Amino acid sequence: MPSAADRIAQLRAELQLHNRLYFVEATPQITDAQYDRLLKELESLEDQHPDLVTPDSPTQRVGGQPIDGFETLPHTLPMLSIDNTYSQGELRAWYDRTAKALRNTSDKPHASGLFSETDTDTQADALTLVAEPKVDGVALSLRYEQGLLVRALSRGDGRSGDDITHNIRTVQAIPLRLLGERIPRVLEVRGEVFMPDAVFTRINAQRGADGLELFANPRNSTAGTLKQKDPKKVATGLRFFAHGRGAVEPDDFVSHMAFLDTLRGWGLPTNPHTKQVAGFDEAWQFVETFEVTRRELGYATDGVVLKVDRLDDQATLGIRSKSPRWCIAYKYAAEQAVTRLIEVQWTVGKTGRVTPRAVMEPVLLAGTTVQHASLHNADEIDRLGLHTGDSVVIEKAGEIIPHIIRVVETSRPTHAAAVTPPTHCPGCGQPLVRQEDEVDWRCPNPECLAQLRERLIWFVGRDQMDIEGLGEKLVVQLVEAGLLTNFGDIFTLHTQRDALLILERMAQKKLDNLLAGIEASKTRGLARVLAGLGIRHVGASTSRALARHFGDIDALTAATAEHIAAVEDIGLITADAVHTFLHSDAGCHVIAELRNAGVDLTEPRTAPRVDAGGSPFHGKTIVITGTLQAFGRKELAEKLEELGAKVSGSVSKKTDILIAGEEAGSKLDKAISLGITVWDEAALLAALGD
Ligand code: IVH
Repeated sequence: MPSAADRIAQLRAELQLHNRLYFVEATPQITDAQYDRLLKELESLEDQHPDLVTPDSPTQRVGGQPIDGFETLPHTLPMLSIDNTYSQGELRAWYDRTAKALRNTSDKPHASGLFSETDTDTQADALTLVAEPKVDGVALSLRYEQGLLVRALSRGDGRSGDDITHNIRTVQAIPLRLLGERIPRVLEVRGEVFMPDAVFTRINAQRGADGLELFANPRNSTAGTLKQKDPKKVATGLRFFAHGRGAVEPDDFVSHMAFLDTLRGWGLPTNPHTKQVAGFDEAWQFVETFEVTRRELGYATDGVVLKVDRLDDQATLGIRSKSPRWCIAYKYAAEQAVTRLIEVQWTVGKTGRVTPRAVMEPVLLAGTTVQHASLHNADEIDRLGLHTGDSVVIEKAGEIIPHIIRVVETSRPTHAAAVTPPTHCPGCGQPLVRQEDEVDWRCPNPECLAQLRERLIWFVGRDQMDIEGLGEKLVVQLVEAGLLTNFGDIFTLHTQRDALLILERMAQKKLDNLLAGIEASKTRGLARVLAGLGIRHVGASTSRALARHFGDIDALTAATAEHIAAVEDIGLITADAVHTFLHSDAGCHVIAELRNAGVDLTEPRTAPRVDAGGSPFHGKTIVITGTLQAFGRKELAEKLEELGAKVSGSVSKKTDILIAGEEAGSKLDKAISLGITVWDEAALLAALGD
């Protein structure tokens, strides 16, 4: 009979071996049930001998209490992004550029051992690359000290990330301890945590059954589950592949491939499809083969990453802006799927615009179940020649909402009816109208309840009047109860306490919050009010320009359309829309009501504050993207404009600074590719002197 300590050691070794066989080698030798039995035995032995429990024991994956929040910690080395391309030509250009740079920078022609003595021998000239699947998951940095997992950080903004160690410990594919020879004192491994499609389907089915919002795709689902504060709630079944490195001490690796192979040896999973290739043709061959292989993997990939294999060559090539020159991602074109159109639904927006949306039979597209597609307008439906019951080809261009690309006319059901726009408003039943030069059908009824609902939701929204306590659901409820028939009614709700208190889910405290939120919103100023009114062509920046120029609603109302058009950045069409609105019955009525309610309809007329050279923002064109902690985007835009900056919505060569909050996406990529200065929130706060 072995001692408890011996048996515990034996069980841990066995469990570790089976983990490795399953996650690293993909050759499991025991069933899940057998694995669970071993784990149970270990658990009960550890219960009897608590002094023998160690933090790297397989029983210690889920431990401790839920945390309050995530701590943000700096990355030892930044987590960079990768340049990417959809084109073979660009990929080849990258290869040629890279090979040439290495040839030119090496003092001795064959210093790196990759090139022949003469440049003519193309075979020997071939640059060795590593081709890896680009897994569509969530980037992660793991830190092992003396072989023990001590820290797991999310990518965050690349410079610092959230400490998600407690959640990552629950991921069975990630070893808590590395096993083997010559394990570095410090080993930081970067890789991708991802959710296999089957796990995603299971989780979404459960969420649906629980009445929770569904995740759009496995990546969002992974990110969502890793944000759990309670590690017990992190989804089981997450996987991990290592694909890169942070700090490694001591570091005697010479190639990326050798690094990956060694990681596998220590128990860290790497993608089994990763392959060393020599020269562009072999790399391209990999790209083409993998385009087929990837469909069978059971997890989402969106491309292939090519990396220069030799680490000294990587160092020679270095980093450009935010991505290394030694690495590039080739992305496959958006995936397509075929499904059947069930119907087209038409919804009324806040300006009365009626927009179509396709409802289709659910189909799996790029790892997501899809049943809706956006259709721009009636013209697009005409262009597609859409009939109810048609087979349609859909494609995901961006991410969440796919588009219908074309109709498969040969499989149209007989007697199928062409999709036509409704003749009457789906909200109020009034006949729809369409102006000669316009593609959109509109509901002309100013009293249309569907429009009113959308207008109110917009008006109270965070970027407009920002009325706390008055969310979308409550607006719908109030419209249905007849308590809101226009913007002005919002500000007389305090006289309706009794009627409000009998609403479903309403209580004293909630009502007090609502009324306090409404009261507080009265002081937002003219720019926010104008933006909230939903006048056509008038968004936040136009509203700000108008409010600042005229200073109050009376001056603006007194202005002719020409006067309004004279304001910088405001065109005649917009000016006309503003003028028409302010002189319409409805417009006059709204303004009078807001005025009576005591809503502030003025705006400080001060010209942009320019403390000569004092503001680092003066004269700068700035774009804001992602989520910021300290500001709403609109709020920040106002502040920067006060400091003399021009805030723009899109990144171009003219952009001076991109301010990137969390989850910044394509704008950040674009800014990086254009070499534009990028500030994170910390840099912004520093510049603002906060
Ligand atoms: S290398 C400096 N290799 O793609 C290079 N990234 O679009 C750093 N990704 O943030 C990344 N598979 O999360 C690398 N085989 C792979 C990858 C991979 C997926 C992700 C990674 C990165 C993102 C960039």
